[in-house]
Amino acid sequence: MATLITRRTFCAGLGGVSALALARPAWAAPQALTARKAQVQLAPEGYPMTEVWSYDGTIPGPLIRVPQGGRVARQLVNQLDVPTSVHWHGIRIDNAMDGVSGLTQEPAPPGGVFDYDFVVPDAGTYWYHAHKNSMEQVGRGLSGVLIVDETTPPEVDRDEVLVLDDWLLDPDTGGFVEPFDHPMMMSHGGRTGNLIGVNGRYLSEMAAKTGERLRLRLINAANARIFVLQLEGMAGWTVALDGMPLDAVQEVSGQIVIAPAQRVDLIVDVTAAQGQSAGLLMQMDDDSLQALVEVSVAGNLTARDGVPKPLPANPNTALPDLSQARHFDLVMEGGAMAGMESAVYLGESLDFRSLIERGQYWALSGQAGMSDTPFARFERGEVARMTLTNRTAFPHAMHLHGMHFRQVNADGTMGPLRDTILSFPQEPLEIAFTADNPGKWLLHCHMLAHAASGMNTWIEVA
Ligand code: C2O
Ligand code: CU
Repeated sequence: MATLITRRTFCAGLGGVSALALARPAWAAPQALTARKAQVQLAPEGYPMTEVWSYDGTIPGPLIRVPQGGRVARQLVNQLDVPTSVHWHGIRIDNAMDGVSGLTQEPAPPGGVFDYDFVVPDAGTYWYHAHKNSMEQVGRGLSGVLIVDETTPPEVDRDEVLVLDDWLLDPDTGGFVEPFDHPMMMSHGGRTGNLIGVNGRYLSEMAAKTGERLRLRLINAANARIFVLQLEGMAGWTVALDGMPLDAVQEVSGQIVIAPAQRVDLIVDVTAAQGQSAGLLMQMDDDSLQALVEVSVAGNLTARDGVPKPLPANPNTALPDLSQARHFDLVMEGGAMAGMESAVYLGESLDFRSLIERGQYWALSGQAGMSDTPFARFERGEVARMTLTNRTAFPHAMHLHGMHFRQVNADGTMGPLRDTILSFPQEPLEIAFTADNPGKWLLHCHMLAHAASGMNTWIEVA
């Protein structure tokens, strides 16, 4: 309190001095991002509130928004009872700022802090989340959105962020169902929630006018759920994936599939007339459709003509030179219904039963969990070509930190830049990237229960 009064008095005494000149004195502490418990109404009204682990008390955490090339400076203040760190997902970041506990930093202990300070080279839709025991910490709410604005943003009437998430709650208490490391969840599809929501709310409603053009930034912050969506009363184009602009916008027809951690930027026109239904529909497990976002249409805007221009390209669009590539095989094994013979865990080769006893259900190329040595080492600028082979019975959302990759198609052409790719059982796929960001980078499944039980490895770029 004393500081507050001092600060007020101080500010009041400034008179005509420009506030801008004093906005960032050299000694100022960076803005805090506080990890703390909070009571939030995740479940519908009438159900109890949920005690979440949050950034600054909200689900999702505070929206951090900077211009391309700008700087993000946040001091993580850990008011939780457990150590934690923050990962800035999809940002081509300085390795020391990547936020991976145990690999790029020591986590901030309870009561401790960690200063994040980095420049964002690429425009786009990103997110941040805890990277210490992520399965539980992200599951309890520790995530938020980071938007990097284009110098010339697209012409839209509105820019909306939609964080898709699900939570596994006990309806009687509002609390999270425990334990987070339930063997059934780890060995199967991961932890999927019984309550699905958008932007931390059970019911997501939005008002719009016929003819309005919206940019929708979809972010899948769920631990394991793959969202399969459809537009209703809206039509439009995909303009970016995982923050990275597509060279040519792509008309949305049919389903939009978003794996955990992936982002999809859409530009859509509201085509529904007043009173007609519009929104985002979600395909449920039984194939029925449910409204995930309801848009109530009232009023008219003169519709904008034509297809939107592609978003301005980011600086990292050069295609990896495949003729120079080194080849690697990343083999996913394990889990329920497929299992595996053996894998190395903490330097010891173990059969599947022994792995399970140690909580390891999965392996990447014969290695369960983190090892002291990286999966691969690269000279800076080397090109990697990686075959992802999924010998399990489940889909996996494979995520590489620090660099974006492209899918290599059968004919040798390359897909758009991504940081997370969905791999389906028995459908091998290939990716390629230029290893141009020095440091230690995780490569893991973003079904967080899978990462916690074996599907977690790393590469090193010199
Ligand atoms: Cu979004 Cu290693 O994570
Ligand atoms: Cu997985």
